[in-house]
Amino acid sequence: MPELSNRRTFLKTTGCAATLAFAPSVSAQHQDGQAGGEGLPRIVAGPYLQEVAPDGATVMWITDKPCVSWVEYGPTPALGSRMQNSSHGLIDAYETTHRIRITGLAPGQPCHYRVVSQEIVRFNPYQVDFGERAQSEALQFTPPLADAGRVAFVTFNDVHQNRETWARLHQRAAEEPFDFLALNGDQLNHLQNREQVVGLFLEPCAAPLDGARPFVFVRGNHEARGRYARQLLDYIDTPNGDYYFSFTWGPVHFLVIDGGEDKLDDHPEYSGLVHFEPYLRRQAAWVAEQVKTDAFRQAAFRVVLCHIPLLRASGASAGYRAPIIDALDGAGIDLAIAGHTHRPAYHEPEADRDYPVVIGGANEPENATVIRVEADQATMRLRTILTNGTVLEEREFAAKGD
Ligand SMILES: [Fe+2]
Repeated sequence: MPELSNRRTFLKTTGCAATLAFAPSVSAQHQDGQAGGEGLPRIVAGPYLQEVAPDGATVMWITDKPCVSWVEYGPTPALGSRMQNSSHGLIDAYETTHRIRITGLAPGQPCHYRVVSQEIVRFNPYQVDFGERAQSEALQFTPPLADAGRVAFVTFNDVHQNRETWARLHQRAAEEPFDFLALNGDQLNHLQNREQVVGLFLEPCAAPLDGARPFVFVRGNHEARGRYARQLLDYIDTPNGDYYFSFTWGPVHFLVIDGGEDKLDDHPEYSGLVHFEPYLRRQAAWVAEQVKTDAFRQAAFRVVLCHIPLLRASGASAGYRAPIIDALDGAGIDLAIAGHTHRPAYHEPEADRDYPVVIGGANEPENATVIRVEADQATMRLRTILTNGTVLEEREFAAKGD
């Protein structure tokens, strides 16, 4: 069985909190290593894809009981390969959040897969009793070619836990093909527990994607709020384990920025528990390095995703983000995509900000928008579309080159 080296040990903190939300009776039994509860184990969210690259992808899903899990996959529906995740010599087990990266995929070729979770009903030091299995249906996705000539993606922002908005956005997005969904912040109002993350975010986000297309998570300021905000990275995968990162898909290179909060760190609302000013300064230093990379410079287009608009005037904490804008200005950014204001807008470049900023609407179903971007090596096309199909904004960009 192939084994994946550990990339995420610091994220593996699910265990007890996970069990508490879905099976309160189980937590007391952790003491003596017994789990259980009534009925068969169920997959309650996913599988959903994260971090899809030409040769690999992370498959994640959530179960309602502690399990040991694996992915069966292969180039045909016959599957044939199997992958688990292990860290420090231990296979992930007794988990309800499952994260398995499959590697060695053929770029541009379909990967068929299904996920399997087997309940662990008793986990004692010298006796582990396994229970029933839950498994997904047969699924498939296609990792992109490394030199893919085109990409199409959609962004949703500020859904704010509205299930009807999730459904209407997905319905509109599905009208035309796309490679991935970027969630541009504030899908949740705050984070208080696992049940909220799974039921109000992961399930309505992931189900319509059918395990066939990934989502990219961009953190919004509301997702920094609440006692469970510190566990959010348990549920998503990014290239570096941070909320800010870069990736390339076809002709577009993406910088994902975590815009932080919309008020100053000492605002009473945060009770002295945030420290965004130095965090945003670190991101500015990171951006200054990113724009020098070959991946950035050689891309036909460069797109920034950041929940709070990267405008010079963007609320009380604008000064915190100013060094990021300084690092982006003049670097060759074609477009920044934002949310947060709940008002669709398009800001043309200005003297001290040489890139445009498009902002999506929110959050009632009729005001929410899909921002759709399609690019090839020569042209990038942007549309902001209401859920009823009305196109609010349409722009075209020509490749500038290096
Ligand atoms: Fe926001």
